[in-house]
Amino acid sequence: MPASEKHRYRPETRLVHAGQLRSQFGETSEALFLTQGFVYDTAEQCAARFKGEEPGFVYARFSNPTVAMFEGRMAAFESAEAARATASGMAAVTASLMGQVRAGDHVVAARQLFGSCRWVVEELLPRFGVASTLVDGLDLAQWRQAVRPNTKTFFLESPTNPTLDIIDIAAVARIAHDAGATLVVDNVFATPLWQSPLALGADCVVYSATKHIDGQGRCLGGVILGSEEFIQKHVHMLLRQTGPSMSPFNAWLLLKGLETLHLRVRRQTDTAAAVSVALVEHPKITRLVYPGRPDHPQAAIAGRQMRGGSTLVAFEIQGGKAAAFRFLNALELIGITNNLGDAKSLITHPATTTHQRLTPEQRAELGISDGLVRFSAGLEHPDDLVEDLLGALDAA
Ligand SMILES: Cc1ncc(COP(=O)(O)O)c(C=O)c1O
Repeated sequence: MPASEKHRYRPETRLVHAGQLRSQFGETSEALFLTQGFVYDTAEQCAARFKGEEPGFVYARFSNPTVAMFEGRMAAFESAEAARATASGMAAVTASLMGQVRAGDHVVAARQLFGSCRWVVEELLPRFGVASTLVDGLDLAQWRQAVRPNTKTFFLESPTNPTLDIIDIAAVARIAHDAGATLVVDNVFATPLWQSPLALGADCVVYSATKHIDGQGRCLGGVILGSEEFIQKHVHMLLRQTGPSMSPFNAWLLLKGLETLHLRVRRQTDTAAAVSVALVEHPKITRLVYPGRPDHPQAAIAGRQMRGGSTLVAFEIQGGKAAAFRFLNALELIGITNNLGDAKSLITHPATTTHQRLTPEQRAELGISDGLVRFSAGLEHPDDLVEDLLGALDAA
């Protein structure tokens, strides 16, 4: 599919074809270019490539044909002008924020963040003289009040990890832009199938490709998407010169992952919805949150900004950590882990894993109780999963 036509086809078609750079052998499946470097016909050609006067690859820390195919496919799917792949989701988050700020600047972020993202905002940025303010992402007044003359960027994830709150992306983007700042959205939980932050006004979207994009538990990866101007100004040089590059092998796995993304995420969303229906009235469950349900606290915002529900369900087991651990240990099929978005159904106890660094007070503020678990639907038969969950609840 020529680059100029990348937005012509429907999303599912782009996931299969966009970005492909077919070699002289005419392969159907994208080639895996396991090469660090490239050779040139002449010294003049080499010099022209380095000067950027001739298009082409130079060195795999900068780019590689397999990685470029992944970036092209992601950009086409997201309808973004530009994309840059990174070694992990955290490399993408860190570069998208660090690339925009200098000592003396200020960042505002929702406090409902994945633990490592919160560490970057709260601990890492201040080490380099960049102040940060955490706000309740659901409270638009707090975003407005946090703005300072030196505020450069806002950062949020929605749905949030692990409580599945829905933050109003368009409204936060307006506040950011009124303040002369940008908005970066971590779209991992929504997936590119169900939510398009750039279309809602965000300036940059980041993914942990480790999750649904691979979707089969095989490799780490990340990606940063935005306008050509945003990527060139804030991200391009930082990635080239500091080197959190994606391996070509991982790019190849992720390209194959993208081909089936819509099938997997649709199925996982249906399964998560079925699990939420099966568990919501259970006497041992005190609270259940699922973004596709009409009783979700931000259902109206979800309806406006998401095209589907979620592959995740969060629920609280009566009896705190002891009961939650009894429940987890009684599961036979669903794996206990910190990960999500896999073909295999997975379950997480955030208070002792992804959010263990926070104080009990900070967790309470976020609604992460000791009884809370986060379920990530896989591709198994939904009835087997419901049976596993109900059986383990008997033991809780
Ligand atoms: C919301 C969110 N953002 C970013 C990341 C980081 O991704 P990675 O593990 O690929 O570095 C994760 C990982 O769990 C996540 O859940």
